[in-house]
Amino acid sequence: MIEKLHTILLWTALIHGCQTATQASSCKSIPGDATWPSATAWRLLNETVDGRLLIASPPGSVCHTDQTTYDDDRCRAVQSAWSSEFFHADDPVSVEWNNWTNDSCLPDSRAHCTANGYPTFVVNATTPLHVKAGIDFARRHSIRLVVKNSGHDYLGRSTAPNSLSIWVHHMRGVAWHPTSFTPKGCHFSIGGLAMTAGAGTQMIDAYRLAAEMNRTVVGGNGRSVALGGYVTGGGHSILSPRHGLAVDQILEMEMVAPSGDVLTLNECQNADLFWAMRGGGGSTFGVLTSVTMKTYESPRVMNMQFSLTTSAENDHALDAVAYVLGQFPGLVDSGISGYPVVVNSVPIWPGSNQTVPVSGMTGKLAMLDATSPENMTQLFAPILAYLHETWPGEYSFLADITSYPTFYAWYLENYDPTPAGYDNLLGSRLLDRRALTANATATRWALERFAAGGQATVLLVSGKGVFDARPRGGGTSVSPAWRRAYAHAAISAPFLPLNETAQREAIERVNSATEALRELAPDSGAYINEANPWEPDWQRTFWGDNYPRLLQIKRAVDPEDVFWCTPCVGSEGWEERENRLCRVRA
Ligand SMILES: Cc1cc2nc3c(=O)[nH]c(=O)nc-3n(C[C@H](O)[C@H](O)[C@H](O)COP(=O)(O)OP(=O)(O)OC[C@H]3O[C@@H](n4cnc5c(N)ncnc54)[C@H](O)[C@@H]3O)c2cc1C
Ligand SMILES: *[C@@H]1O[C@H](CO)[C@@H](O)[C@H](O)[C@H]1NC(C)=O
Ligand SMILES: *[C@@H]1O[C@H](CO)[C@@H](O)[C@H](O)[C@H]1NC(C)=O
Ligand SMILES: *[C@@H]1O[C@H](CO)[C@@H](O)[C@H](O)[C@H]1NC(C)=O
Ligand SMILES: *[C@@H]1O[C@H](CO)[C@@H](O)[C@H](O)[C@H]1NC(C)=O
Ligand SMILES: *[C@@H]1O[C@H](CO)[C@@H](O)[C@H](O)[C@H]1NC(C)=O
Ligand SMILES: *[C@@H]1O[C@H](CO)[C@@H](O)[C@H](O)[C@H]1NC(C)=O
Ligand SMILES: *[C@@H]1O[C@H](CO)[C@@H](O)[C@H](O)[C@H]1NC(C)=O
Ligand SMILES: *[C@@H]1O[C@H](CO)[C@@H](O)[C@H](O)[C@H]1NC(C)=O
Ligand SMILES: *[C@@H]1O[C@H](CO)[C@@H](O)[C@H](O)[C@H]1NC(C)=O
Repeated sequence: MIEKLHTILLWTALIHGCQTATQASSCKSIPGDATWPSATAWRLLNETVDGRLLIASPPGSVCHTDQTTYDDDRCRAVQSAWSSEFFHADDPVSVEWNNWTNDSCLPDSRAHCTANGYPTFVVNATTPLHVKAGIDFARRHSIRLVVKNSGHDYLGRSTAPNSLSIWVHHMRGVAWHPTSFTPKGCHFSIGGLAMTAGAGTQMIDAYRLAAEMNRTVVGGNGRSVALGGYVTGGGHSILSPRHGLAVDQILEMEMVAPSGDVLTLNECQNADLFWAMRGGGGSTFGVLTSVTMKTYESPRVMNMQFSLTTSAENDHALDAVAYVLGQFPGLVDSGISGYPVVVNSVPIWPGSNQTVPVSGMTGKLAMLDATSPENMTQLFAPILAYLHETWPGEYSFLADITSYPTFYAWYLENYDPTPAGYDNLLGSRLLDRRALTANATATRWALERFAAGGQATVLLVSGKGVFDARPRGGGTSVSPAWRRAYAHAAISAPFLPLNETAQREAIERVNSATEALRELAPDSGAYINEANPWEPDWQRTFWGDNYPRLLQIKRAVDPEDVFWCTPCVGSEGWEERENRLCRVRA
């Protein structure tokens, strides 16, 4: 779903007024301030990072005649690559969702191009010492610091104007611990093959390298999603209902703290940070440089591509969907995971011959180590029988079942193909058994608002493995709602660039969808990595009862707020004023 870039309103470049002394002292420095580091200071930083300091121009600048980088051929190349997740991941400053660079330099000659949405300097880090140099510099000079990895972030946490960015994309590759792993400083070892991976390692590479060892890891479904943001936020997978979240697999982490110290985190040392970095969110407690995780024997994967649809005019279309959602906990308990999508009055369903709008559900479901397709179809038989009894002949069910010998074989054909390069917001909620099963009428009315945009996902990426997980050190900081959730329900709201009406409508759409789910699951929470950045009561929503301890750790490890993002732990005392970050209270 790529929104075409439309004719764009131009705006006059932001002019920074004179800063009063109080403003300057309570805000992070930006170029032009007397406190902004001198050219010499930047040159010294460049030396410290082995010449890896970049001034990166926004990639869209090649499309703008008023930019020195203007180049028509390169512009065409950038335009055609813009919807590729890998293009943004491989660029030092680009991010996947245009809004977070404030649509400030789209590859469209009709738009304006300023660097106002982008970092000013980038450290292209490959070692913890490069990371340390960047952190130390930002701390000493009171400059806004961001961490970019793949730039996938749906909440805009991986970019900021007038900042120094630490780009960890090239900190990748893996090392194996063939039979066991001894966490540093511990007097015991943990059996099984473990993988130590650089924080920039992307899913597709982690899976491929693990497959070479005949193993797999608990990972996500986007190919270029990197471990850094994924694991610090929690990390869900179709393997999670069996093995737990990604954070539950972690044996050790290495990071650079806001103080510049390179630290090893595990259950024997820095246990507080070890807990906080497993779910407390990216770019908050420091920069993860590598992570050591358990690996698993690769399961066989039985995949069912299905659709269960009825005419959208059918006034009980959503009643049937609500009924099926009520069956999800049972299905998950029987070994089903995957990515169902609710469709609500979608004009023509691709791949079907439907020419009238349909409603219902479609998507991919997986069953691990099933030996025959009947293992899956049997589970659906009673559901289909109920639908047929209740609404005879009204629902059509199509299922295409394919068996894959390994997780990697499954993944190569069934990864998340979401294109990038447009303005987009997400909204989500974790749904537990009660929310899904207690009251089908309430579910139906929630669906009406939740799926008002036409499509809504209800991912089956939690279950027994997440409930019974035994993470090292006794716990992780992900929202406790994960430990009861059967489904992670999410919608996305794409919107036109540089259009305040469209932006406001997207925020309203997401707020209305998430409000419906909050009413359905009031005691639950949401997954920080795939959520509405404008959640009210975000501390409780993303971290629940873990928030006070997370905040305490943040204050202890980062008293000067070297790291700041929103909605992130401890971000309350600061505010973005246009393109400047200012402290508003202690
Ligand atoms: C197509 C697609 C599919 C997805 N599928 C899944 C899925 O199956 N399961 C799932 O759980 N999530 C999934 N996600 C969400 C994904 O986990 C988040 O977008 C995550 O934030 C991406 O992390 P990143 O490092 O790649 O991205 P970035 O945008 O670079 O970083 C995300 C956040 O983490 C911070 N960060 C990154 N690296 C580090 C580091 N080394 N140290 C400290 N902070 C760091 C950044 O500053 C930012 O705050 C998907 C996203 C997309 C776009
Ligand atoms: C950093 O040093 C390298 C190598 O000398 C140079 O190529 C690069 O342009 C420098 N970066 C900046 C921002 O000056
Ligand atoms: C888009 O990003 C800008 C900052 O870059 C922010 O001010 C604005 O609120 C964002 N819009 C949405 C809908 O999130
Ligand atoms: C960043 O560093 C990597 C690894 O050394 C290198 O391959 C890449 O070209 C660098 N990127 C830029 C834009 O300098
Ligand atoms: C993986 O399994 C294949 C087939 O069983 C075997 O030939 C190969 O040696 C195994 N590789 C490793 C690294 O164990
Ligand atoms: C769609 O219609 C074509 C031509 O009538 C037919 O060959 C095909 O099997 C139909 N596909 C489905 C999914 O019904
Ligand atoms: C799958 O079905 C086969 C044969 O019908 C049965 O023996 C097996 O136990 C089932 N496996 C699972 C995981 O349900
Ligand atoms: C179920 O939800 C509906 C709609 O919200 C509500 O009217 C009804 O009272 C609820 N039923 C029960 C038993 O709680
Ligand atoms: C801006 O968005 C609104 C709402 O989506 C739309 O009606 C309007 O046509 C858009 N304006 C432009 C100039 O594209
Ligand atoms: C984003 O751009 C708008 C103009 O379109 C501007 O008013 C706003 O201040 C910018 N936001 C940031 C965070 O730079």
